[in-house]
Amino acid sequence: MLTETLPVRYSQTELVELMIPSYANFGGKIHGGILLSIMDKVAYACASKHAGAYCVTVTVDNVEFLSPVEVGDLVRFAASVNYVGKTSLVVGIRVTAENIKTGEQRHTNTSYFTMVAKDDEGKPTLVPKLLLETEEEIRRFLEAMKRREYKKEYVSLFYSAKNEISIQDGIRSLSEERCVLGLRL
Ligand SMILES: CC(C)(COP(=O)(O)OP(=O)(O)OC[C@H]1O[C@@H](n2cnc3c(N)ncnc32)[C@H](O)[C@@H]1OP(=O)(O)O)[C@@H](O)C(=O)NCCC(=O)NCCS
Repeated sequence: MLTETLPVRYSQTELVELMIPSYANFGGKIHGGILLSIMDKVAYACASKHAGAYCVTVTVDNVEFLSPVEVGDLVRFAASVNYVGKTSLVVGIRVTAENIKTGEQRHTNTSYFTMVAKDDEGKPTLVPKLLLETEEEIRRFLEAMKRREYKKEYVSLFYSAKNEISIQDGIRSLSEERCVLGLRL
């Protein structure tokens, strides 16, 4: 039986992983894709725990790596449910990297995973309400609502702007860009 309401703390999830050499790119830093893959797993664990059901990732917002992660760093992924809708949940993940020798900690990114809970037939299924017990939890919930609202506006503005793009008019705005036109007619 699905619990009606669950506190944020019930599903808070934390993973600490050592960045090993096989995670590195040719420049010696950690691949962004490795971090994203770990974040997706942590988001899944957190969302599924709250939902009590299998969850799938729908969108990921705010993927900006602000500081490179080095081989040997200890990276901490702290996840919590920020928002719940009917069948969807937003999991916020804060990623920090720590240099083991110096103890210096850097915030590398905070990203937001929208996940949807699925039932055994693969259909979206209702998730428990979220009990907000601190001002920070309320702020995160409100922020997620704003993010959702602005994203909807952005998507609709972008799609109408996209449909209005004219190649003939647009070509003029390319003169200052770092591209060369080599149209094959
Ligand atoms: C996401 C998915 C479940 C939506 O299915 P659907 O039949 O369109 O369901 P609904 O329209 O009822 O939406 C279900 C929920 O997803 C949310 N949702 C759907 N598309 C969304 C989007 N682009 N961004 C944010 N939320 C979205 C809806 O708002 C709704 O949330 P709510 O119930 O809390 O109000 C479906 O498209 C899917 O399964 N996609 C594949 C996901 C997957 O497999 N991911 C793994 C990576 S390959």
